[in-house]
Formats: sequence, structure tokens, C-alpha cells
Amino acid sequence: MNERGTKATLLAHARTTARSLAKRATTPQARANMCLDLLADIGEPSLDVFRRALRALPVDERHYWVGTLYTLLLPTRVRRSQATYFTPPTVADAVVDLAIDAGFDIEADSVLDPAAGGAAFLSTLAGRMAAAGLDPNEVAYRLNGIEIDTGLATLSGCLIAERLGSPLRREVIITGDALRVTIPASYGLVIANPPYGRVGLDDVRGKAWRKVAHSGHVNKYALFAELCFRHAKPGGIVALVIPSSFRAGPLYDRMRAFIRSQAEVLAVGSIPGRDGVFIDVAQDISVLIARKGKSHDAAAAVRFPVVGAMPSAAPVTEQTLPSEPGDAWPLPAIAPTLVGGSTLADYGVTARAGYFVWNREKGRLVAKLRRGQRGYPLIWAKNVRPGTTCLPLGKKNAGTDFVTFTEDSTAIVTSAAAVMQRTTNDKQPRRLVAAMVDPSVKSKWGGFVSENHTIVLTADDPEMLDLAVKLLNTAAVDQRYRRVSGTAAVSVTLLRQLDLPSPAAFADALEEADGDSEAAASAAYRHVPETIDA
Ligand SMILES: C[S@@+](CC[C@H](N)C(=O)[O-])C[C@H]1O[C@@H](n2cnc3c(N)ncnc32)[C@H](O)[C@@H]1O
Repeated sequence: MNERGTKATLLAHARTTARSLAKRATTPQARANMCLDLLADIGEPSLDVFRRALRALPVDERHYWVGTLYTLLLPTRVRRSQATYFTPPTVADAVVDLAIDAGFDIEADSVLDPAAGGAAFLSTLAGRMAAAGLDPNEVAYRLNGIEIDTGLATLSGCLIAERLGSPLRREVIITGDALRVTIPASYGLVIANPPYGRVGLDDVRGKAWRKVAHSGHVNKYALFAELCFRHAKPGGIVALVIPSSFRAGPLYDRMRAFIRSQAEVLAVGSIPGRDGVFIDVAQDISVLIARKGKSHDAAAAVRFPVVGAMPSAAPVTEQTLPSEPGDAWPLPAIAPTLVGGSTLADYGVTARAGYFVWNREKGRLVAKLRRGQRGYPLIWAKNVRPGTTCLPLGKKNAGTDFVTFTEDSTAIVTSAAAVMQRTTNDKQPRRLVAAMVDPSVKSKWGGFVSENHTIVLTADDPEMLDLAVKLLNTAAVDQRYRRVSGTAAVSVTLLRQLDLPSPAAFADALEEADGDSEAAASAAYRHVPETIDA
């Protein structure tokens, strides 16, 4: 069976087992005991299938699946709020390798994982330290974890002991809220796949959040990142597995600037496939490796490896980070020779966020305009479908909704326009979804407005706009956008900066390719402009 098939089978076994144990898994200790029984080959015969499957696995996989069973036994609400989604062994191994490459000394350094979970990192490190010949007691003194869930802390301690083949002489993983407990030391490696999710300022302790977040947009993973850098010793390595939003999200500028002020950024890894990394959650994930001490030198080359995939013979791409500390960190171009060199502005196209926030101004949204009432049809995000022009259809795909106005407004679009979806969902194959607004909208109503989950593209020249829309709907452009963005929301700023082939190159390629825009976009990115000797 291939890797995907094995994963699907094990997940199915884990879910069946979790369902059969659910009624009795009411406390953290009960959940931990159930997982430990399974590991120790004891317990009900009904669990034999999963037990046999576990027995056949290498130790890291076995530990991962036992930890995953624990998470499946958690109430969904708790699982989501704690973000108990564990790092698969291939990724944990690759992150440890990157930390070692960066200078973490497996034979001498101590380690902290402040969100230890199922001990993906600490158990892997215990195995590596034991393999390096370290005594189990010494290993236990060098590894330190914090975990908010008491059952997981117990389970993980046992997994580490099993890995070392010896009971632990100290509590390697303490139970607590890492953002509140006192951490007395600093470490040679601080490694974490921290929880994520928005937190209100009332739930945040101290003022350190200001270094990494804006009020009103504080994410747990940014708080953990600050904690990790604070507790790395000078010269120590910080290795984080975090949502890719930190790379480019406009609201993560403080976090990017903070990281650069604290450490040299050595590697920014990407993990292929947003669905495949964690069980039951789709998230674009990046790996950050940094050395605490000096601030990041903007001229220093940063490695951009692909993490956890099949090893590749291709050299790891390197590039510098932008010179402004808060600016987005785009992934390198797919290949340096495939840079289009143009942006939407070269197409004469302007992009801005849709204007109307319907749930804030419900009173202005009407199904019909009264006689003498001024209003314009509203384009919703779901009216935007690639390959067809866009019409302002009402919420149930029937009728038209109107937004009333009492005076002129720049929000009313009267020029040639196209609309893009501003947030896409995980199931959609494309991030960038654009459609020209049907010319009948202008002739019938004189203009339109679009809602806030859209981006409006306007241009003086409708043909150039149409060309840009064809280009934006191609896989080649979508892939480029994903390399700079990392979140499901489409950022107007990143869209404006997005690398595109020049209009002339794309128009020529489109003609060559008989109107096939996919083929044309790929060809246009390969187009090398002629240079004229001065
Ligand atoms: C995304 S999981 C990662 C676990 C593990 N390190 C891994 O890579 O598989 C995050 C873990 O942090 C724990 N956690 C959530 N909030 C926490 C907090 N405030 N302090 C300590 N641990 C926390 C969760 O229970 C969960 O086990």
C-alpha cells in the first residue's frame, strides 16, 4: 500500500477506535490510560485491529498514531481550541534535521517545546540523542516540554520513556499554560508547532504581544513565537512549524519585524499540500529556522527548502528577505528564469477591496428600489465564476439586490470592471477567481457596487482588463500568488505586487496558443524580452 493508503487506513482505524472508546474517555487521565493500554498491547479484543496495525509501525509512526488517537478522543471543541493537530514524523524529522544544520548540537544543547502535544519533537529528539550515545538520564534532563492538557503530558512522558527504553527520572513534560507559567531557563533549541487561533486581548497576559501582533488581531501562534525567541539562549536555534500567514499576511508585519530583530533567519521551509499535513485541518504551513542573537542582515541569503517531501537532488533555493523588516517574505519564484517582470499596473488595471459590508448596513440593502430611490446592483462574491461574465444575482441566485445611495460615491463602479473573490475556501482549487462584469450591468443600471468579500478590478481599456482577467484565472498565476501569500484570503496589496508576464508577451502567447490561456500564461512567463544594446 502507498503512503497515502496507509495513512487513510490508519486514520480509519483510529477513528473507529476513538468511537468505541468515546463514552469512557471522559477525563484526560482516562484518555491517556486508553492510549497507553493500546501501546502496551493490553485492553479490549475489539481494538485488536488497530493494535495490530500499530505494532507493525516504526516507533515514530506508532507514537504519532497513539497521540492522534488521544486527540480524536477529545471533545471537538477542546481539540479545536487547543489546536491539537500533531506534526507527522516525516515533518518532525525534517525540522530536527534543519535545526541540526543550523547549529543545534544534539550532544550538548538543551531543548524546550512549549506546546509539546504528543511529543512529536521531543520523542524524535530523544531517539536521536539516544542514537548519539547519550545516557537516557542525561537525555531526560536536557528535554523540556510544556503541555496544557494533563493527559497528553502524561502520555507524552511515557512515549519519551519508551523511546529511551528507560523510565524518566524527572518530569520532562510539565502540565501548564506555556503563555502563563514561569520558564526559568533559556535553551539551545526551542522547537514548537504551537497552537493557533485568534485570542482576545482580555485573555493575553502582559504586553509582549505588542511586539508580534496588532490589537484586535492577536493570534496564539504569534504569542508562542515571541515566547520561543525569548527563551532561546544567544546563539540558540528557534524552529517553528507555523501557519504560512506569518510570511505575507499584512497583519503579521510586527511578527516578521520582531523575528528579524531577534535572530538571523536561516531557512523558511514550505510543506507541500495544505490538506496533507495535519489530520482534520487544512492549513498552509511553513517551517521557520532562525538563530537567536544578531538581528537579521537583509543581505544574508535565506534557504527556502521544501520540507517533509521526498528528498530531491535539486539544490535548495536561496534568496534574501525584503529590505523593510515588516515586508512580506515571498517564496522564491518557481525558477528565477521564469519571472514575468510586470504587474497589474502594466495592464492599466487598478485593484481595490469591495465596498459594501452588508451585515453592517443592512438598511441600505434592498430587493427593489422605490420610485425615485437611488441605488446600484450589488455583486456578491458568489456571482464570480471564472469563464463567464459576472451578473449581480441576489443571494439565492435569483433577483438582484441593490445598495441605496443618497449621494455620489467612488464606491459606485461605472467603468469597465472585473470582480474577484476575496476569500476562497479550502475546497476551491484556485485562490484567484476573477470574472469580467457583464457590460449589460452598466447599460441597465449605470454601474454597480460589490460586497466586501470581493476585489474590484477596473481599467480604462476593457480589452486590457479582459486580458488581465484571462491571465489571473490561469494555474500559472495562481501558483505564483500562492507562493507569496500562504492564506486563503486574497490580499489586494499582494495582488498589486504579483509578478505577471508583460501584456505584450501574454497577448502574443495567447494568439500563438489559439486562445488557450493556460498554455499562453506558461509560455509568456518563459518569454525573454529582447534587449537592445545601448
Ligand atoms: C499543534 S499541537 C502540536 C503538538 C506537538 N508539538 C506536535 O508538533 O505534534 C499544539 C499543542 O499545544 C497544546 N497547547 C495549546 N495551548 C497551549 C498552551 N497555552 N500551553 C501549552 N500547550 C498548549 C495543545 O494541547 C497541543 O497539544
